[in-house]
Amino acid sequence: MHPSTIAIDGPAASGKSTIGAAVAEKLGYLYFDTGVMYRAVTRIALARSIPIENEAAVTALADQVQIDFLKPTVDDGRQYTILADGTDITWDIRSRAVDANVSPVSAYAGVRRAMTQQQRRIGLQGRVVMVGRDIGTVVLPEADLKIYLDASEEERARRRHRERVARGEPVDLAAVRQEIRKRDQIDSSRAVAPLKQADDAIYLDSTGLDVPEVIARVMQLVQAGQLVH
Ligand code: CDP
Repeated sequence: MHPSTIAIDGPAASGKSTIGAAVAEKLGYLYFDTGVMYRAVTRIALARSIPIENEAAVTALADQVQIDFLKPTVDDGRQYTILADGTDITWDIRSRAVDANVSPVSAYAGVRRAMTQQQRRIGLQGRVVMVGRDIGTVVLPEADLKIYLDASEEERARRRHRERVARGEPVDLAAVRQEIRKRDQIDSSRAVAPLKQADDAIYLDSTGLDVPEVIARVMQLVQAGQLVH
């Protein structure tokens, strides 16, 4: 039997969203990228000039903002369309400003409470590949298959750098690596739901593997019906 809930966690730019989307498509499951929700709150806070260090205001925003996931509404390479209070923010949430501010936002307990509740409700419906930092540990500890997807910092920086250049955002590789390191450091050391491998997660190091190889490894685990519960 295939696992019905699949949790993929891991550090920045480890390939979770590429792999998660591909595996979900192969299985006919819903793909849910939880990072998008934290990015959306961050993006709206920046757009409304809410100071990121104002925890109360950012938390109030997380409670109020309506985030919708739709099938792609524009054929521009997007995996989905994200609306925040009706505005298309699909590409805006990938900006450097969001990258630089999302980890402080997602460290706020109230922000996490609001997001985790919605994520858990969707995850419990089953037939889902859910991707993030705390899916196997906090959001869906009962997930059928948990994977911790990793890669060396150097390789992750190269991948994120390539993505940015492909989007026409010239940026220095060393700067990207520095940003990734900083985000991982905040994500791993926060008090609430820090990034860490669940005890019953399978560790998968994707350093030196290309995308089809990583997808194949994950599908092997799925097919083996590696039920962890
Ligand atoms: O794609 P990338 O790995 O760079 O980032 P992401 O998965 O979109 O997540 C962006 C940020 O959201 C992370 O650095 C975390 O601070 C936060 N996040 C989180 O706290 N918990 C999750 N389940 C998912 C993301």
